[in-house]
Amino acid sequence: MNRMQPIHHPLITTLFAILLLAATGSPATAEVTVTMPGPWGDYDETLDNPATVDATEAFQRFRQQSMQGTSATYRSVEQILRYDAPFAERLPDLAEELAQRAADIDTWFARETPARDGEPGALPGAWEDPEFADYKAAFGEATAELKRKVDAAEDLDNPEFQVRATEVLNGVRHHCLACHDNFRRR
Ligand code: HEC
Repeated sequence: MNRMQPIHHPLITTLFAILLLAATGSPATAEVTVTMPGPWGDYDETLDNPATVDATEAFQRFRQQSMQGTSATYRSVEQILRYDAPFAERLPDLAEELAQRAADIDTWFARETPARDGEPGALPGAWEDPEFADYKAAFGEATAELKRKVDAAEDLDNPEFQVRATEVLNGVRHHCLACHDNFRRR
């Protein structure tokens, strides 16, 4: 009987695959093309097929987009304080936004969706290690301090204020780096 196995195996597998396909219909393609209509004409965009993205993956992607948004907010503040981009009047709104994002961070980790083996993403420790809560809270406190500093400023364009605020911003950045060092795989 053993000698028959190499012949039987692929045959049975093929038959099974045909039966499965007949039962479920053709498999969903990985990408779909969606038309984006508007005043400048129809534009087609190729996107991941929603049928192939489950709720867990969408949750994880939402978290990653939120982190990227946090990064854009942080980097915008940095352009003003460290590199003199002429948008100092935007500092109160940006500092408020950064603090709000930090306050939201808990919700982004409400579901346990660690990175798959070897892939980039959150490490399992984000859900297993009780210290993760401290990292989130400390980050929130650092962004609140930046907001207080900005709100207390008399002149947002004042170079001395900007130097002091940059030091507070460095204190915010510390928390991005420390949390990533412990709970994120790139
Ligand atoms: C309390 C922990 C923590 C803090 C604080 C934190 N992050 Fe993250 N960050 C993570 C984790 C965990 C991931 C991986 C999430 C995933 O892929 O599911 C991540 C992912 C990211 C990503 C990659 C997103 C993607 O598209 O894959 C960026 C960019 C990022 N963080 C920027 C920042 C910036 C900028 C700050 C500070 C202003 C910050 N993070 C603060 C934990 C943190």
